[in-house]
Amino acid sequence: MTSFKETSSEKLKVTKIIFVIGGPGSGKGSQCEKMMEKYGFTHLSTGNLLRKEISNETERGNKIKKIMLEGGLVPLGTTLEILKDAMLENLQETKGFMIDGYPRTLKQAEAFDKSFTLPTVVLLIDCSPEVMKERLINRGQTSERFDDNEVTIAKRVESYFVDSVPVVKHYDAKGLLKKIQGEGTEDDVFQSITAIIDEL
Ligand code: AP5
Repeated sequence: MTSFKETSSEKLKVTKIIFVIGGPGSGKGSQCEKMMEKYGFTHLSTGNLLRKEISNETERGNKIKKIMLEGGLVPLGTTLEILKDAMLENLQETKGFMIDGYPRTLKQAEAFDKSFTLPTVVLLIDCSPEVMKERLINRGQTSERFDDNEVTIAKRVESYFVDSVPVVKHYDAKGLLKKIQGEGTEDDVFQSITAIIDEL
């Protein structure tokens, strides 16, 4: 069977792929919205794609919800498949993809590199656990996200700091990692990001 990489390799070569990684509440989603507006890139958030699957109320969706409620990671096969479908759907029209919330583990990074291509750049939005928790607890007062409760937030933050270390090392070793200070205002953070994107 022909792989996604083979059938789409020419288009993938000219498509910018920007990974936006960082802990829960570091501002990945907010910054991707701004980049989408300024650069016209397609924003793909694995969290949003998984929530969409949950809203379909399928058996797979129910399993995903249980994992997300526990602050755990959805299995690699499921996440990669959902991401692949979303990329395929947008590939011919897009100017580039901002992939938010993927990869979260070294295995996810390696699977993406193998199935698709290396990213153009990896933006790491750096934030302390205290700031991230505070932002999410605040958001939890009005958001409808079932994982914005104190217990789940603590688990999400904790697992981020364990899982992300090898991912960061992996892309740093390839010269693709750009670390961004995530604790300024949204506009400050965006300014640091545009300085990087404008050079791509
Ligand atoms: P996901 O939906 O990706 O959530 P997350 O990583 O926990 O991040 P958030 O969306 O909560 O925060 P964010 O960094 O996007 O910040 P935001 O801009 O929203 O994932 C949810 C779950 O899905 C995971 O726990 C996991 O179970 C599963 N999942 C997802 N991807 C997966 C994968 N690859 N593999 C396996 N499982 C996966 O901002 C947060 C708040 O802060 C907002 O209120 C915002 O207004 C505010 N804010 C943002 N920036 C600033 C700023 N500079 N100053 C002040 N406030 C700010």
